[in-house]
Amino acid sequence: MNLPTFALERYFDRHEFTAEIILCASDVEPWTLSELIDLASPQQAHRWSDLSLGYTHAAGHPALRNQIAKLYDTLEADDIVTFSGAEEGIFALSNVLLGPGKHAVVVVPAYQSLFDVAASTGADVTKVPLGPEWSFPLEKIAKAIRPETELVIINSPNNPTGAVTTEEELAGLADLCRTADATLLCDEVYRFMVHGETHPPAAADLSPYGVSLGVMSKSFALAGLRIGWIATSDRELLARLAIFKDYTTICSSAPSELLAEIALDNAGTVLRRSRSIVAENLAIADGFFHKWDGAFQWTRPSGGTTAFPEFIAPYEIEEFAAQLLREEGVLLAAGSLFHWPGNHFRLGLGRSNFAEGMERLDRFTETHFS
Ligand SMILES: Cc1ncc(COP(=O)(O)O)c(C=O)c1O
Repeated sequence: MNLPTFALERYFDRHEFTAEIILCASDVEPWTLSELIDLASPQQAHRWSDLSLGYTHAAGHPALRNQIAKLYDTLEADDIVTFSGAEEGIFALSNVLLGPGKHAVVVVPAYQSLFDVAASTGADVTKVPLGPEWSFPLEKIAKAIRPETELVIINSPNNPTGAVTTEEELAGLADLCRTADATLLCDEVYRFMVHGETHPPAAADLSPYGVSLGVMSKSFALAGLRIGWIATSDRELLARLAIFKDYTTICSSAPSELLAEIALDNAGTVLRRSRSIVAENLAIADGFFHKWDGAFQWTRPSGGTTAFPEFIAPYEIEEFAAQLLREEGVLLAAGSLFHWPGNHFRLGLGRSNFAEGMERLDRFTETHFS
């Protein structure tokens, strides 16, 4: 296994706890422990105070898997295996399905592990870029699929662009995967965060070839729990994933499982909070890019918690970000951290100090580029 440096995670490791304002985070402003415990039912509160800190169920606590299954129209608890974050799910699935002689298709830009873990197994990886205005490249994916293609990976809503794959596009992709006998992994860690009216279905509900990757970190604003999952009606695949997990984390953390269960029991409240933060911040971003039309190219995200605008001036975005951090204490993530060309940067719409960050970005732009 040969894993390259994870550019974005190293960047965060360097700056996340020293920069004053993280204007490029992909998670939503986290809940505190006491806020979350306040949502617990009397029975959950009792279980919390009496919780055994031993090992838990390898596939995930049954009560938690039951709550997770309720996020899907067609699944039950046995269609879910939990992981430590979405990251472990990506690692397990890529290693279970891929290897030398196998092939994966990955739509980019994307979170680095979606393509580099696949490549690290020895599989050949074809990256298919999103089209203009982040349109979904269904025809290009069709052309990229080969007889040895085992896995097609997309992320919707997409990090960093905020593009959302529509139900028709997803159905078209599921058809391609059925014909090719390939698994469709849809990384849905930003699910439920759609800025319009229509929420596309989960891949696992749409097709027996569909695998949905979920997590508490993003839409549910609980990244510190490190609870993620894979959902699919393909029980044989789930069994292989469970066997793989015996070599990584064995089981999840008991406190995190219960806290995730409490949050999912209150999914409506938790998601309303996240959506309201992101909607407010998106309106601020709209205002900023309207004012600076000509300096930035703003492709409004359709969903998710991030956007991927482009700085148009002949000035490298890496230098822009470094100077912004030095002068204003604001962290942006250059597109090169996503292996994406041009002068793009990721803007994170989920944090409660977003307005302050955008004011500083405005002042910085005014000082240096007006
Ligand atoms: C698209 C995508 N998938 C997976 C992950 C990993 O999520 P987690 O940190 O919850 O493991 C991230 C994190 O940023 C992500 O953006």
